Amino acid sequence: MKKYFITGTSRGIGKAVAENILTKPDVRVSGMSRNCNISHSRYEHVYVDLSKPGDAGEFNFPDLPDAEEIVLINNAGVISNIKRTGQQKTEDIINDYNVNIVSPSILINNFIKKYQYYTNKRVILNVSSGAGRHTTDAWSVYCASKAALDMFSRNIDKEQSFFNEENRIRIYSVAPGVVETEMQRQIRESSEKDFSELKKFVNLKKNGQLTNPEKTAKLLLKIIDDNFSEVILDVRNL
Ligand SMILES: NC(=O)c1ccc[n+]([C@@H]2O[C@H](COP(=O)([O-])OP(=O)(O)OC[C@H]3O[C@@H](n4cnc5c(N)ncnc54)[C@H](OP(=O)(O)O)[C@@H]3O)[C@@H](O)[C@H]2O)c1
Repeated sequence: MKKYFITGTSRGIGKAVAENILTKPDVRVSGMSRNCNISHSRYEHVYVDLSKPGDAGEFNFPDLPDAEEIVLINNAGVISNIKRTGQQKTEDIINDYNVNIVSPSILINNFIKKYQYYTNKRVILNVSSGAGRHTTDAWSVYCASKAALDMFSRNIDKEQSFFNEENRIRIYSVAPGVVETEMQRQIRESSEKDFSELKKFVNLKKNGQLTNPEKTAKLLLKIIDDNFSEVILDVRNL
C-alpha cells in the first residue's frame, strides 16, 4: 500500500493530484482542506484550516510500518489580496503566511518526526511557484512565502543528508507552471490599478497558454516516481 497526504484537495491542482493517484489500485489518500469534493473508497477527507497553524499541528500522522511509500504533498496555497505592500490588510498577511509556509512547516516537521527512521520510500513534495524565485508587483507576501518554502526545503534536504541513505527522506519544492485554476481566475479578477502585470495573465488565458491541472498533476507525480535528485524544480523544465 502507498499512502499520500495531500493538502488543498478540494479543487485545482491538489484535487487533480489526488484523483490521478487514486486511479492506482494500491494507493490511499488523506486529503486536507476546508471543503471536500472527492468521493472515493480509498479517499479520506480531513477538515483542516491551514490558516490556523494549530490545526496543522493537531494532525496526527499514523503508524504505517507496512506502507511501501509515504508521501506528503503540501499543495494548498493562497494569494488573498493582490495589492502593493502598504495597502494590505493585516489579516490577509497573516492568513497567507500561515497557509503558504507556517502550516506546511509544521506538517513537514511532524511528518519527519514520525517517519524519519522508517526505511520505505518517503517523499515530501511542496508546491512552490516561480513567484518565489523572482519579484512580482503586488504579490510580495505570496512571493516571500514561496521563497521561504524553497529555502525550507533546501535546508531539510541538507539535514537529511546526515542520515543513513535508508532513512533519508526526499524533499522537493516545485513550481507547477501557470495552471488554469481558481487562483488564476482570482488573479485575472484583480485590478490593473493595483497590479501592473494583469494584462499578461489575461492574455495567457486568452491565448490558451494555461496548463490544465490534470497535466500538471501527472508531472508532479512523475517527480516522485522518477526519484529526482534536485530539490528545486519547475515542471516546465522536466
Ligand atoms: N494555478 C497556478 O497557476 C499556480 C502557479 C504557481 C503556483 N501555484 C500553487 O499551486 C498550489 C495549488 O494552487 P491552485 O492553483 O490549485 O489553487 P486553488 O484552485 O485556489 O486551490 C487552492 C487549494 O488550497 C486550499 N486552501 C486554501 N486555503 C486553505 C486553508 N485555509 N486551509 C486549508 N486549505 C486551504 C483550498 O481548499 P479549501 O478552500 O477547500 O480549504 C484549495 O483546495 C498553491 O500552492 C499555489 O500557490 C499555482
